[in-house]
Amino acid sequence: MKYLAIVSMFSISLMAASPDVVQYMNELSKTAKAENPSFSGFDAARGKEIFTSTHTGKQGKPMACTSCHTVNLSSPGKNSLTGKVIDPLSPRANPQRLTSTKEVKKWLKRNFMDVYAREGTAQEKGDTLAYIMKN
Ligand code: HEC
Repeated sequence: MKYLAIVSMFSISLMAASPDVVQYMNELSKTAKAENPSFSGFDAARGKEIFTSTHTGKQGKPMACTSCHTVNLSSPGKNSLTGKVIDPLSPRANPQRLTSTKEVKKWLKRNFMDVYAREGTAQEKGDTLAYIMKN
C-alpha cells in the first residue's frame, strides 16, 4: 500500500516524460525499493549531485554528466569525446527527450559508464531522470 502511494504520487509529478518513460521510472522505483528498503522515492536534488559531480570515468579521466550536457540543460551540449553538438537534454527545451525508454536506457547505461566507470543503480538512474525532468 505504501509502495503504491509512492508510485502514484511520483507518476503525477512526472508530466515532463512520456507514459512509456514514466512506466520505466516506476520499474526503477520498484528495483530501488527492493535494493534499499529505506528508499522512499526519487529525488531531483540527489540527481543534481549525481549529474554535476566529477568522477573518474571509464577512460581514467575526470568526467561529469555536465562535461557533455553542460550545467544548463536547456542549452545544447557538446560531446567532450567526439566534439559533436548534443541537443538540449531538458524535455521542456527539447520535446523529444524522455519519450523513448529504449533511448533512455541505452544512454543512461553508456553515460554512467563514461562518468562513473560502472552502470548506475536503479536509484541513481531514477534520481537523475527526476532532475532532468525538472530542468
Ligand atoms: C561523453 C559525453 C556524455 C556524457 C559524459 C554524458 N552524456 Fe548523456 N548523452 C550523450 C550523447 C551523445 C547522447 C545521445 C545523443 C542525443 O540524444 O542527442 C546522450 C543522451 C542522454 C540521454 C537520453 C535522453 C533522451 O531521452 O534522448 C540521457 C537521459 C542522458 N544522456 C543522461 C546522462 C547522464 C545522467 C549522464 C551522467 C551519468 C550523462 N548523460 C553523461 C553524451 C554524454
